[in-house]
Amino acid sequence: ENQPSVLIMIFGATGDLAKRKLFPSIYRLFQKEKINKFAVVGVARRELSNDEFQANVKESILTFTKEQENVDEFASHFYYHSHDVSSSESYIQLKDIADRLDSHYQLEGNRVFYLAMAPEFFGTIAEQVKEQGLTDTNGYKRLVIEKPFGHSFESALELNKRIRTAFEEDEVYRIDHYLGKEMVQNIEVIRFANALFEPLWNSRYISNIQVTSSETLGVEERGRYYETSGALRDMVQNHMLQMVALLAMEPPIRLTTEEIRSEKVRALRSLRPMTKEEVNQYFVRGQYGAGTVNQENVPEYRTEHNVDPESNTETFVAGKLMIDNFRWAGVPFYIRTGKRMDIKSTKIVVQFKDIPMNLYYNTEETLQPNLLVIHIQPEEGITLLLNAKKTGGDVKSTPVQLSYSNKSTDQLNTPEAYEKLLFASMRGDATNFTHWDEVALSWKFVDSISEVWENTKESSFPNYEAGTSGPRPADELLESDGHFWWPVENLDLEN
Ligand code: BG6
Repeated sequence: ENQPSVLIMIFGATGDLAKRKLFPSIYRLFQKEKINKFAVVGVARRELSNDEFQANVKESILTFTKEQENVDEFASHFYYHSHDVSSSESYIQLKDIADRLDSHYQLEGNRVFYLAMAPEFFGTIAEQVKEQGLTDTNGYKRLVIEKPFGHSFESALELNKRIRTAFEEDEVYRIDHYLGKEMVQNIEVIRFANALFEPLWNSRYISNIQVTSSETLGVEERGRYYETSGALRDMVQNHMLQMVALLAMEPPIRLTTEEIRSEKVRALRSLRPMTKEEVNQYFVRGQYGAGTVNQENVPEYRTEHNVDPESNTETFVAGKLMIDNFRWAGVPFYIRTGKRMDIKSTKIVVQFKDIPMNLYYNTEETLQPNLLVIHIQPEEGITLLLNAKKTGGDVKSTPVQLSYSNKSTDQLNTPEAYEKLLFASMRGDATNFTHWDEVALSWKFVDSISEVWENTKESSFPNYEAGTSGPRPADELLESDGHFWWPVENLDLEN
């Protein structure tokens, strides 16, 4: 494989993401010899020497990766620039560092600008790196940008305009780290590489699809951001809708970035827009109260750090999406995500329709529908629920599971989401990043919900106890359609 040569400039290099994800990911790429001609400039406000920064990098590697070889050599590729985001002078100094590293490491002018910091500066940075000539280079220039990409359609549009003064759309890599997850990438393969599923993948055979992403963590130290966001913007606009798009899209004619994206865009375009009444009927919001998570008492959301004691911010969302196209007419896609729930788990359950006639009706149980479960995390795998004969004399049916666990494969070498995404951005593969068209459509959909919610205070907050599966109305949402959330903990691969 071709090793890309690249200079990575990380804006926000003293932050949490850099420490927990980016340094370890670059390290693993280095260890696997996927990169060797590279240098990293950490950019942040704090005053640090190169040595101090390298010490931070080493500490991050020792804390967050298992291997510890060649850490000194690795860290020697790291440099630091103490930066003032709004001073042109500071960008000129950065350009000077970049130019020197370019020639020292022979990086062919390839530059990745990684924005891992407060979003209010995204626009300024993009404009400044252009104005001060950092993007004038013989190699490629790419912008990797973390969420949140705006706060609504309007603000995203505004941000996009500013970014586009310096970078073309195909130079912008908008991170949605769910797209780097192994089993999220597997959705397409499961769908399009099996004779078993694609013929049934439509409203004739599928009853409903359920996507759950539950977390046990609360808002931690992110209260300030989360108060302006809530679960809808934090999880639904990006991760949840991306999973829905991958589940709903038509088969791409080939596996190029453009073809896959255009099918995802068409799926997102088919999301049925909702009126205010429909939002109230099909979307449920929740906020956690005090409770017990993993045997520990935890406080209610409203007393968390930097959270308004009367906060109206939702920490849980459940919703019913309808996709108005030929394939999906009438099939609900239920989504659910929340903080401080009972378990950390992301799963997709595809529920097939009941067979026309149940011959085994007079047995001890009613026939269970076939389910395809895609385990995204923490376990990775697939389970198929079928009915088979119960062992013994009488002919009775019993549910059986066929399971595939990714654990059996070489897990240690399975690249993590950020590692894959970083490497893809160096190689110029934008497949697992979100295009502007996807961002725009997702925001428009989410805006229709948040507009309703912002104008009505939820008087029942807090409405679910920490450590539970969320508020009761989230269950009623499915019950009124004759469905229920499949209890995901019973579908674990070990069972
Ligand atoms: C992030 C959200 O995008 O995703 C966080 O901002 C959330 O609030 C996180 O905790 C969940 O990611 P994962 O990979 O732990 O499911």
